[in-house]
Amino acid sequence: MKLSEMLKPGTRVRFGRVQARSEDDVMLTRRNFMKIALVSATTLSLGLQVGCDGNGESDDADPVEFTLISDAHLYDSRLGITGAAFEEYLATDPKLLCESEAILKSAVDSIKSSSAQFVLICGDMTKDGERDCHELMASYLAQLRAAGKMVYVVPGNHDVDNPEAYSYSGSTQTPVPNVTPEEFTDIYWDYGYSAAIARDPNSLSYVAEPTEGYWLLAMDSCIYKNNTSGKPNTAGAFSDQTLDWIRARLAEASQQNKIVLGLMHHGLVEHFTGQATLFPGFVINDWENLSQILAQDGLRYVFTGHFHATDCTERTWTDTGDQLYDIETGSPVSSPCAYRQVRIENGVMDIDTIRITSIDYDTGSATFQEYARDYAMQKGQNMFVGMFMSPPYNLTQAEAEGFTPTFMNALLAHYGGDESPDASTLSTIQTLLGSSDPTDIELGQFLSTLWTDLTPEDNSLNVPM
Ligand SMILES: [Fe+2]
Ligand SMILES: [Fe+2]
Repeated sequence: MKLSEMLKPGTRVRFGRVQARSEDDVMLTRRNFMKIALVSATTLSLGLQVGCDGNGESDDADPVEFTLISDAHLYDSRLGITGAAFEEYLATDPKLLCESEAILKSAVDSIKSSSAQFVLICGDMTKDGERDCHELMASYLAQLRAAGKMVYVVPGNHDVDNPEAYSYSGSTQTPVPNVTPEEFTDIYWDYGYSAAIARDPNSLSYVAEPTEGYWLLAMDSCIYKNNTSGKPNTAGAFSDQTLDWIRARLAEASQQNKIVLGLMHHGLVEHFTGQATLFPGFVINDWENLSQILAQDGLRYVFTGHFHATDCTERTWTDTGDQLYDIETGSPVSSPCAYRQVRIENGVMDIDTIRITSIDYDTGSATFQEYARDYAMQKGQNMFVGMFMSPPYNLTQAEAEGFTPTFMNALLAHYGGDESPDASTLSTIQTLLGSSDPTDIELGQFLSTLWTDLTPEDNSLNVPM
């Protein structure tokens, strides 16, 4: 039976375009899956390539250990967590915002006592760039610094010049101060900018050397200069000047025999086939060219966030042998609420993932992981049913309610990483792909690509250096 028939017999499921308010939400566009699959098949390597030339680092160098956090989206509860206006906002945002400080505190407490030498933060520190939220975040970063961990940040699309910075009281939302790029560097001066050995005059990008022989290339991929429409810009791009600056730094790193660790908010490559088309704004604009250019310039490892998924995707250009790993870290405020730890030793980057299991917050009788997943499923149901019922879909409520859990299961599986569909999911996908209805086929192809995990592994993996 076709999924559309399961939802409501005789009614066709229209699968075209869904729009939501931020990167946690989804924008789907009608697309030619076959075309995307063919293009990607020619460019994506499906196997791990081992033994590429190294950077001259000896195998017996001291290990380097660091932590990755992305998309903490800290919300200062003093900006309001009750009342009709906040409830209305919260209904449109699937992130664990009320819980965000307890989640961050849990992670910071663990990292303080870890062996990490430094912490890299891939952007979206705040809910919506509120100055109060940035300052609260900086207070937690100060705890890490006091524990001996240097911290390095890069901005996310929510963090700078965000016109959606509000407080909430009763039925009213009130604009509150956000931060300009200059104010961002002031707040995070001790968390990257004061340690910079080079800074881009045209963005918040910089280079630091967190440990000898390693250059951190922090690339500001956000487009806040265009935030004049009342909405922050979800998409990412490098201006020509910033790209020139990045390429010049990569050339210097090569000349000086430095290992480069890239850090940016947006994905530099697709994390599943067709992502840039299905979810515009989550992979950096012109990603196919940019990733190739930067890989040719010597960038092999880039740590990213933005889509809130725990994923690692490797891309190889067979003509040149260039290779790039985009190591995306999930969000602590999106199920399954993860961050990463990395250890580089003996020419191998050993990456592990930590899921937060306990926070100082009332989760009822559920564990925190159960609570977070239930929250995501419920929010997904609230948000996506409404959108599937809206133009251009105009699904009936029963159709939309029937489709949304399938969609959320696929999305959360990708968020968790190492996704593999069970027999029931495979059966649904195969049924849709075998349908004579073009919309059902498209729907099956969408679920299929979301469930198809590109190599290498996501949660626990070794990357050759
Ligand atoms: Fe985010
Ligand atoms: Fe983001």
